[in-house]
Amino acid sequence: MVHASSPVPFANVPGTFVPVRKELDEAIATILDTGAFVQGKWCRALEAGFVDYLGVEAAVAVASGTSALELTLRALDVGPGDEVITTALTFIATAEAICATGATPVFADVNPKTLQVDAGHVAQLIGPKTVGILPVHLYGAPAPMGELARIAGERNLWIVEDTAQAHGARYRGERLGSLGIASCFSFYPGKNLGAAGEGGLVATRDPELAMRVSQLRDHGSIAKYYHHEIGVNDRMSEIEAASVALKLPLLDEGNGKRRAVAARYARGLAGLPLTIPGVEEGGESVHHLFVIQCADRDSLRAHLDSVGIQTGLHYPLPLHQQPALQSIVPAGLSLPHAENAAQSVLSLPMFPDMTHGQIDTVCRAIATYFAGRREVAKMPASSAMAA
Ligand SMILES: Cc1ncc(COP(=O)(O)O)c(C=O)c1O
Repeated sequence: MVHASSPVPFANVPGTFVPVRKELDEAIATILDTGAFVQGKWCRALEAGFVDYLGVEAAVAVASGTSALELTLRALDVGPGDEVITTALTFIATAEAICATGATPVFADVNPKTLQVDAGHVAQLIGPKTVGILPVHLYGAPAPMGELARIAGERNLWIVEDTAQAHGARYRGERLGSLGIASCFSFYPGKNLGAAGEGGLVATRDPELAMRVSQLRDHGSIAKYYHHEIGVNDRMSEIEAASVALKLPLLDEGNGKRRAVAARYARGLAGLPLTIPGVEEGGESVHHLFVIQCADRDSLRAHLDSVGIQTGLHYPLPLHQQPALQSIVPAGLSLPHAENAAQSVLSLPMFPDMTHGQIDTVCRAIATYFAGRREVAKMPASSAMAA
């Protein structure tokens, strides 16, 4: 196996803790000394930080992005018989949260230019059982929120944003996470704002909704041992909350660095036979992932792997084709753009502190791959087969 001058990792999660390491070590020591492990002052600091950052009314820290979605839907009284429209191209947690309430996810296709949910298709899927729309801001870029808000407004539906991949991104100047009735963030370690463990948060302009989510996350109680409804244990731990609260002030700087990495990739890959999904007009991506699309994705991926460059697939199988969801997907459902994306997307290494050398190594390796393909294509058939 021939490696690039030095291997390029897909991400650098430990590196994201370096700037806050001293404060985090101190916070962890205090947590250990005091025994205040769950939903304490660091959770409150994180919630206050998000209210400030997003300009929303309230924020509720929870156990994960998946719990943020599920608790929000439960707080909106989504349940059996309801339908929630979402995109077919996302992580399964988006659909799992809908299923967990007893409601049915209805999958819309994506816009082939952006790979975000296709608002026109969402409008077509609205039926008498539809209660809301759950768009995902995929790869760090906004879903078409203007069009979705118009559609939802006309049909009296709510919008809950899945902002698990888009901390700090904007649409028409507004931060994602402040546009729908509620917005759900994940602090999974690899996210743009990642915890030292699991974590999530619900942000909302609606204080009553926040209160309900807060109640549901803690066994349906607001005051200890007084339970107003059957809830769950989806509280966030203090070590995780401290790690996110300490990193929040650095989020914009990290996103700016990701933007610079994306711009250098775009320059370095220009002219090669691949496409980079576009961003909705008025949108500003925070480049959680840097995704390219090309016809022979799997062999390009194998080539990059052979020279020590790690890549990812987001996602190799759209949700309507996942075995776990077959009992709720209409037989024979075809969503061609999501299916094509699943065959063609390739996520390149992306993290804020990627060096120019690392970015250029990836671009060169991709250019070398395509140059090799051109050479093979030029060969007479017999020698091309031997190559
Ligand atoms: C789009 C999307 N939604 C939801 C989630 C779930 O978040 P968590 O892993 O924190 O439960 C993720 C996390 O990978 C995600 O990418």
